[in-house]
Amino acid sequence: METTISALGPGALYMLVMLLLSLQGSPTGATDVITATQPLSGQQKLVSQGGKFAMGFYQPSGGPQDKWYIAIWYNKVQKVTPVWIANRETPISNPDSSVLTIWTDGNLVLLNKSRSIVWSSNTSVTAGASNTTTVAVLLNTGNLVLAYASNTSNMIWQSFDHPTDTQLPGMKFGRNKLTGVSNRQVSWRDHTDPSPGIFSLVMDPNITAQYLFIWNNSRSYFTPGKFNPQTGAFAGIPSMTVMSRPNSVYSYEYVDNDKEEYFLLTVNDDNIFLRTVIDPSGQQKGMVWMEEKQDWMLYFVEPSDLCSVYSACGAFSWCAVDSVPMCSCLWGFSPQSPTEWSSGNYTGGCTRNVALPCRLSGGGSTPSMSSGYEEDRFYVTNNVRLPDGSQVVQATTISDCEVACLHNCSCLAYSYNGTCSLWYNDLVNLQQDLDNRGDNIFIRLPASEIRHTKSIRGRTIGLAIGVSALTLGVSLIGVLCLLRRRRIKGLHNIDMNLMAFGYRDMKLITKNFTDKLGGGSFGSVFKGVLQDGTVVAIKRLEGVHQGEKQFRAEMSTIGNIHHLNLIRLVGFCSEGEHRLLAYEYMAHGSLDGCLFKTSSDDLLPWKTRYQIAIGVAKGLTYLHDKCRDCIIHCDIKPQNILLDTSFVPKVSDFGLAKLLGRDFSRVMTTMRGTIGYLAPEWISGTAITTKADVFSYGMMLFEIISHKRNIDEHGGDRRVDKFFPILVAEKIQEGNVQALLDSDLRRDVDFEELKRACMVACWCVQEDESSRPTMGAVVQMLEGLIEVTMPPVPRYLKVLAESAYQPSTVSDKLAAV
Ligand SMILES: *[C@@H]1O[C@H](CO)[C@@H](O)[C@H](O)[C@H]1NC(C)=O
Ligand SMILES: *[C@@H]1O[C@H](CO)[C@@H](O)[C@H](O)[C@H]1NC(C)=O
Ligand SMILES: *[C@@H]1O[C@H](CO)[C@@H](O)[C@H](O)[C@H]1NC(C)=O
Ligand SMILES: *[C@@H]1O[C@H](CO)[C@@H](O)[C@H](O)[C@H]1NC(C)=O
Ligand SMILES: *[C@@H]1O[C@H](CO)[C@@H](O)[C@H](O)[C@H]1NC(C)=O
Ligand SMILES: *[C@@H]1O[C@H](CO)[C@@H](O)[C@H](O)[C@H]1NC(C)=O
Ligand SMILES: *[C@@H]1O[C@H](CO)[C@@H](O)[C@H](O)[C@H]1NC(C)=O
Ligand SMILES: *[C@@H]1O[C@H](CO)[C@@H](O)[C@H](O)[C@H]1NC(C)=O
Ligand SMILES: *[C@@H]1O[C@H](CO)[C@@H](O)[C@H](O)[C@H]1NC(C)=O
Repeated sequence: METTISALGPGALYMLVMLLLSLQGSPTGATDVITATQPLSGQQKLVSQGGKFAMGFYQPSGGPQDKWYIAIWYNKVQKVTPVWIANRETPISNPDSSVLTIWTDGNLVLLNKSRSIVWSSNTSVTAGASNTTTVAVLLNTGNLVLAYASNTSNMIWQSFDHPTDTQLPGMKFGRNKLTGVSNRQVSWRDHTDPSPGIFSLVMDPNITAQYLFIWNNSRSYFTPGKFNPQTGAFAGIPSMTVMSRPNSVYSYEYVDNDKEEYFLLTVNDDNIFLRTVIDPSGQQKGMVWMEEKQDWMLYFVEPSDLCSVYSACGAFSWCAVDSVPMCSCLWGFSPQSPTEWSSGNYTGGCTRNVALPCRLSGGGSTPSMSSGYEEDRFYVTNNVRLPDGSQVVQATTISDCEVACLHNCSCLAYSYNGTCSLWYNDLVNLQQDLDNRGDNIFIRLPASEIRHTKSIRGRTIGLAIGVSALTLGVSLIGVLCLLRRRRIKGLHNIDMNLMAFGYRDMKLITKNFTDKLGGGSFGSVFKGVLQDGTVVAIKRLEGVHQGEKQFRAEMSTIGNIHHLNLIRLVGFCSEGEHRLLAYEYMAHGSLDGCLFKTSSDDLLPWKTRYQIAIGVAKGLTYLHDKCRDCIIHCDIKPQNILLDTSFVPKVSDFGLAKLLGRDFSRVMTTMRGTIGYLAPEWISGTAITTKADVFSYGMMLFEIISHKRNIDEHGGDRRVDKFFPILVAEKIQEGNVQALLDSDLRRDVDFEELKRACMVACWCVQEDESSRPTMGAVVQMLEGLIEVTMPPVPRYLKVLAESAYQPSTVSDKLAAV
């Protein structure tokens, strides 16, 4: 016996022991090692000790039948989710005739039917490595290691150093400083094709503690910014702090030493499956497995806005975050592949409807003067971030610049800002400029294309202004003054012009203010119809003592704000004493009207209300964070939320607070003594921040949840027993959300969402501003992207609630808090 063992050698003995151990350790009886005598083929798979990961031949669902890959996936997750692919560039056609084994040089290799190496761990041969001395082991971290059989800690190669598109906990994502090699993650081509796609993640070679999103191995299009170890967050995306909360089960850290720098994701609970992936869309997604839902849940997405992904819309189209779909072909262009386009893959871009005659007749030469040739024209697209790859030429005026482009058939577009820039290549990455600081670009089109738009006669530039008026549907002869803008505005709806109306036009449009829609805190609202039939809502401001100049300045701020969930200002009138605003008309009126109905037949379904809550939060997020100047709404309540035909909510009246110099004494008097929507800081007199809106939003969210007013001033079915927000806060603490439901809620409510909404609302109405979440966080919480923790009972409201029906002195009560 003794002799046999020594003849086998220590390596073989180790292998034997390990084999026995692994057979014991894994519940399925599957092994976790590959050796030269024990290769992997066909249906066989490795299962890591602990049973978390498996490895074997894999085929993406929906992919071609003859392409198989060696992959590692989660053994316990029903939905097969590969985290690593060996031969992503060299699939094999038949797993039964292929083997994954140890090669004579000790490398792990994949052999096809004709015994050729189609993939190899391909590490340079190390002393003593051969098919008898090395083994491949699948570890329970999802790492496949090639090591000496005598000591598997003595690693030769590991899959964690060669990631595909996924970062797993325990895997270093970084750069070897000695070799300069970065272990980049490269996206799949698409969801059925693991071959290397166009997007990758790589450490920034120039800035420490930062990684980059790269397009086509060349261009960096996004970075989350520098990692701050103190906060555990990246500078550009503070919301990722969630990942590193002190008692969080997962953490992110950055390590920097002489040899290497890397990011490391750690999860200290083995039952939590977490991964980040660079997706074929160019976004990085953090996902966690939800056993209850049997699906992956997103916990972060970066960049959150797809327009930030380079060339997301392909060539000759432009990207606008808020439009649906987000990509639109430029004028005169249509999707290259309408099927792909309609399925939401815009990367193919757009092509011309009609080829440029100039180009046809002679490539890059000067336009031919053959008979029947009509000079190309230009079509302006406004407020875009210009594509790169332009060439600057000498030109002193915009028409010189146009001529310069016109005279070279290869020139496809020009832009003039004092400098004349010409483009000769496909225009990619055009984007709507959210800050409205974009430029105008003039795109070359055949004359025939421009002639088809009946509103244009002659050259485009001169007409751009007039046509923009037409697109608004406003062609009133009585338009008195067109708000002068610095730039020429054109046909594309990227930017909106504000129309200035005369008071007489306003009277015409509203039929002398006969059809009153309602009244807000700042005036009355009337229905109006423009000459072309467009229905608008005209708000007549009362008691505005603002200077003309300031009024206009404010109008241009508000007019430049575009978001799906913010009401769009169409125009205004400022004449003499009169101040009127024209908004897009909302068919379903205010949330107030839809929410508080006496009959229970036509209550808004839960799903609709939940979407309304998210929509309002998105609109406010935009006001707070995304506009050039942060705008605090100051008066969030159901009356100021309007609903369009599909119940998409639009926040209205924003900016008016600013317009009126935040003179809230009137609002204050009506609010005093009742628990309305006002944050305590309004009453206590401290500075107002965006968190005041968060408070009001929270109060409104309670009403959206309950379908009832928190306070019913007219008696009716007032909740006598308990103030609803306090009831919610207490029931949540007891873990008894069900208790909140009354009969008309129960029908269609989603418990998970209800619980989330209740908790979010409680957080929003915390007395301490800093405890309240930002609106951005509210959106993420409601969408289930980040977890909501247990909110404390809002003390302030509790005290107030006790005095709710003695509307006397709120401030006294506050002083007592
Ligand atoms: C190991 O490699 C040797 C050549 O170095 C070869 O003769 C032998 O067949 C290989 N063993 C296995 C199991 O593949
Ligand atoms: C095996 O791979 C080699 C090299 O990649 C290739 O030339 C050969 O056609 C493949 N054989 C089969 C049966 O796929
Ligand atoms: C192995 O690496 C070398 C260079 O490092 C490369 O030329 C070769 O193509 C690689 N072989 C395989 C099978 O990946
Ligand atoms: C195994 O290899 C590791 C790393 O090379 C080394 O630190 C350790 O001492 C080795 N163990 C034995 C038993 O040789
Ligand atoms: C890093 O810096 C070098 C030199 O300034 C520059 O050429 C290179 O483009 C930079 N790389 C990235 C990814 O920013
Ligand atoms: C990516 O870059 C390569 C050259 O490095 C180029 O040939 C290819 O066309 C580029 N891909 C796209 C989609 O532009
Ligand atoms: C989108 O379509 C292009 C071809 O136009 C294709 O190469 C790419 O893989 C597709 N992307 C996705 C995510 O399906
Ligand atoms: C047109 O522009 C291209 C790119 O700048 C240049 O190579 C070409 O010579 C120009 N053609 C004429 C006729 O000027
Ligand atoms: C004009 O455009 C050029 C090229 O896009 C740019 O470099 C320059 O800064 C711009 N100038 C002004 C005044 O905006």
